[in-house]
Amino acid sequence: MLLDTIPLNDGCQIPQIGFGTCLMPSPDTERLVGTALVAGYRHIDTARYYRNEARVGKAVPPVTCPENRCGSPANCPSARTHVRQAIDASVGELGTHPDLYLIHWPQQGHYAQTWRALQEAQADGRLRSVGVSDFHRGHLERILGDGGIRPAVNCADLGIAVQAWSPLGAGAVLRDRTIASVAQDVGRSSAQVILRWHLRRGDPVMPKAGAGPRIRENLASDDFVLSPGDMTRTDRIDRGERGRSGPRPAAA
Ligand SMILES: NC(=O)c1ccc[n+]([C@@H]2O[C@H](COP(=O)([O-])OP(=O)(O)OC[C@H]3O[C@@H](n4cnc5c(N)ncnc54)[C@H](OP(=O)(O)O)[C@@H]3O)[C@@H](O)[C@H]2O)c1
Repeated sequence: MLLDTIPLNDGCQIPQIGFGTCLMPSPDTERLVGTALVAGYRHIDTARYYRNEARVGKAVPPVTCPENRCGSPANCPSARTHVRQAIDASVGELGTHPDLYLIHWPQQGHYAQTWRALQEAQADGRLRSVGVSDFHRGHLERILGDGGIRPAVNCADLGIAVQAWSPLGAGAVLRDRTIASVAQDVGRSSAQVILRWHLRRGDPVMPKAGAGPRIRENLASDDFVLSPGDMTRTDRIDRGERGRSGPRPAAA
């Protein structure tokens, strides 16, 4: 299967559908990532914070990814001096170089320094694409104001791809009545409708699923049409900050 890819602002491409591994029960990680790769996923999201890079790495031998498109570890090095150690630890545990390395969270007092260190690592050839996660516009403006390069992800207004973590709202959005109604109309599952909505917007997604049928179902979200009316109905379930499923980063 050939997955659609999204261009990043550094010339690289990212497969639009990825596979998330946060809070995956440890013994299952290697098997589920293996199932995802066999199904056709070529974008896996992990993080040092998830403590599962070694298990993900066992499932992602470099030979599985001749186009070098696997691995999208988010990361949370908390200070500049730790960045090199964090990269070395990730590469050691994954057994391969990640294609995209992110600052997982804008930790106050550290993120600007961490971003400079990531840029140095990219300039040294140790990292390919670098980006950020959970940054507000103010955080982005701060690192760009420092003369930094633009992150490869995460703010459309600034020409940066937006990656949708928890694209199913950690499961909560699956129970939405509007989504169920659209799903019935198009003859697909609620999960596929939500993922299709993201894909049509052009955002890379990384749903997590705990069993093969769901892993394959999520990947098959790109082969049906959502009409403009279905897109608008789905847009309307947006609850802004009230719909957030994760913690809210502090202002810059
Ligand atoms: N950078 C960040 O700050 C950040 C934050 C949060 C998440 N993430 C990334 O985003 C990934 C996904 O987020 P998430 O794990 O929070 O939640 P999610 O992918 O939005 O939703 C996962 C939930 O949906 C269920 N599910 C998945 N596919 C389904 C299907 N086809 N039908 C019915 N239920 C389905 C899963 O159940 P089962 O597991 O039982 O199948 C699980 O309960 C994470 O794993 C992580 O890699 C990044």
